[in-house]
Formats: sequence, structure tokens, C-alpha cells
Amino acid sequence: MKRLNVYMLAISMITTGLSGMSLADDDDGRYMRPWGVNARPGVAPVDNPLYLNECGSCHMAYQPGLLPTHSWERLMAGLEDHFGENAELPREERDAILGYLLNNAAGRNNYRVSNKLVRGLRGTPLRISELPYFVHEHREIPARLVRGNPKVGSFSNCDACHTGANRGSYNEHQVNIPGYGRYDD
Ligand code: HEC
Ligand code: HEC
Repeated sequence: MKRLNVYMLAISMITTGLSGMSLADDDDGRYMRPWGVNARPGVAPVDNPLYLNECGSCHMAYQPGLLPTHSWERLMAGLEDHFGENAELPREERDAILGYLLNNAAGRNNYRVSNKLVRGLRGTPLRISELPYFVHEHREIPARLVRGNPKVGSFSNCDACHTGANRGSYNEHQVNIPGYGRYDD
């Protein structure tokens, strides 16, 4: 009897697998879909005016979903020496922004680019441009189009090349490198 149950469970798993989304309709809570199956494209757009104002004045306001929680904590703990700049904030604002970043960090919502950026991550990088997925995706772009390109300057300027960056869209078909154009690999 026990054996039969296991057998039937296997069959039912295969058939629900085949009917795809039916797993999602189970509301008895017994099944969990694997994380990532229904991920939304890109990263969640910024929707916090305070963050947009305070962290979008020197560079684009990076979406919280571009870094994991521990990176945002480390970054927000060192604003007085922020990549050579002083980006200190009054304590209340800093705490409010940190809360927003932590609630929406990569790993806390289900967006495809966020999920990829934190996969296989070690340590606590301060830069998005140091994350393994980022490095992998940009490894073939020659330096003359980035550092050597006055209209780009560094990989930190996502919105110089990604025309949808401010909406949280990093689709490779929406890339336009200044002075070069669309990038075909
Ligand atoms: C006074 C200007 C200034 C302000 C304000 C500022 N930043 Fe920056 N930020 C910089 C500079 C300069 C860099 C380094 C850019 C480069 O290397 O080209 C940087 C880089 C970053 C990076 C790394 C980007 C990468 O290369 O992946 C993150 C993340 C970041 N800032 C987040 C923030 C957050 C969050 C705030 C708000 C609390 C903020 N910044 C406010 C100047 C600023
Ligand atoms: C010099 C131009 C340039 C800059 C600056 C740049 N990118 Fe890209 N990015 C590209 C190109 C080109 C590709 C596509 C590479 C390919 O198809 O081989 C790409 C690919 C990507 C991808 C992979 C596409 C996907 O759908 O997963 C992501 C994510 C991404 N970039 C995010 C960023 C972020 C975040 C920043 C800023 C921290 C940034 N990029 C800065 C040029 C740039």
C-alpha cells in the first residue's frame, strides 16, 4: 500500500508538471513552485521619491534589486567615503533609504535580472559592476567603449548604454553604446 502511494504521487507529480501552471492554482499550500519560475523581466523600477532624490543626483538611482541586502548595508554604512565622494545623509533619511533598499534588494523579490545578479555571489561587493553575472555579461565590451568613451566613462553609468535602465529594463536589445550604436555579439 505504501509503495502504491509513492508510485501514485510520482505519477501525479509528472502530470501536474505537464499541465504546467496548475501548480500555481493549488491554494492548499502543499506545493511551492520553484523560485524563479515566474520571475518578472528586468528589475523592479524605483518607486521611492526620497531615494530617487538623494541617490539619483550624482548617478542614476540604481534599482534596489541590483544588489543583495548585505551589500546595501555595507554601502549605506560608509556614505562619508562613498567611492571617494561624501554622500552622507541625515540619520533619519539614511535609515528610511536603507529600509527601502533592504525591502527591495535582490533575493527579496522575484525579478529575473535580480535573481541572476546574486547567483553564485560570494563576499559583499559594493559595486553592481563587480557581481559575477555583471562581469560575465560585459566581459567582451572593449575598454575604449567604456573608460575610453567620454560619453560613458565607467560601467557605473548604466543609463549611458541601457536605454531602459531608468525603468529597470536591461534587455540586451535595448542597448545603445554612445558613438558605437547597437551592440551585437
Ligand atoms: C556626491 C555624489 C554621489 C551621491 C550623492 C551618491 N553617489 Fe553613489 N556613487 C558616486 C560615485 C562617484 C560612484 C563611483 C562611480 C564610478 O566608479 O564611475 C558611485 C557609485 C555607486 C554605486 C556602485 C555602482 C557600480 O559601479 O556598480 C552604488 C551601488 C551607489 N553609488 C549607490 C548610491 C546610493 C545608494 C546613494 C544614496 C545613498 C548614492 N550612491 C549617492 C557618487 C555619489
Ligand atoms: C558601455 C555600455 C554599458 C554600460 C555602461 C552598462 N552596460 Fe549592461 N550591457 C551592455 C551590453 C552591450 C550588454 C549586452 C552584452 C551581450 O549581449 O553580449 C549588456 C548586458 C547587460 C545585462 C544582461 C542582460 C540581461 O537581460 O540579463 C545586464 C543585467 C546589464 N547589462 C546590466 C547593467 C547595469 C546594472 C549597468 C550599470 C551598473 C550596466 N549594465 C552598464 C552595455 C553596458
